[in-house]
Amino acid sequence: MSGAAASIKGSRMDVATLASHVAEYERDIERILISADEIQAKLGEMGERISQDYAGTDLLLVGVLKGAFMVMADLARNVRIPLEFDFMAVSSYGSATRTSGVVRILKDLDHGIEGRNVLLVEDIIDSGLTLNYLLKNLRSRRPKSLEVAALMQKTEMQRVPLDIKYRGFEIPAEFVVGYGLDFDERYRNLPYVATLRPDAYAKTG
Ligand code: PRP
Repeated sequence: MSGAAASIKGSRMDVATLASHVAEYERDIERILISADEIQAKLGEMGERISQDYAGTDLLLVGVLKGAFMVMADLARNVRIPLEFDFMAVSSYGSATRTSGVVRILKDLDHGIEGRNVLLVEDIIDSGLTLNYLLKNLRSRRPKSLEVAALMQKTEMQRVPLDIKYRGFEIPAEFVVGYGLDFDERYRNLPYVATLRPDAYAKTG
């Protein structure tokens, strides 16, 4: 076994190993809010519930790009029933219209969802406006069922009532990065969720 392979413990890359690959990011981290182990344990619990709730049915996971790609991959590995996958990419129309909750669909689903059991997978719910828009949009396509799995929710920030069937963590209203979440497109590959040191926001490009 090579040295690199030997450093991978079990099926998961050791956090210290990954951190040594992104030393530049480590310097920007202020505080780890949710550790890699806590995330994986929670996704295991969520996957178990989803497996039980949808046993004997077909299930389509819909990931909201970009942030949800990590949750999607790890959650799916904990779901023990047949799954299909699709993705949407959305963007807000800008700060002025974001308050209206109108989002632009950059990439739509590849296939129709009429009559399907759909589980929308999000990394984080902040104001809830993106999700609110997406749920309305997807409901109009007449799925058999439509539920949400979100790793994190900032409940203090929520501006619209939402019914989240599978929620991982409730977090404070702080800006967080890692595990799919970015600042200026960086930090998405960190295996944990963390806050940034103030000087990290000055580094762009
Ligand atoms: C994040 C997240 C949600 C949205 C939540 O995406 O993935 O889609 O913001 O915010 P809201 O509840 O206030 O609407 P972001 O716009 O950062 O795009 P990204 O996933 O491509 O990074």
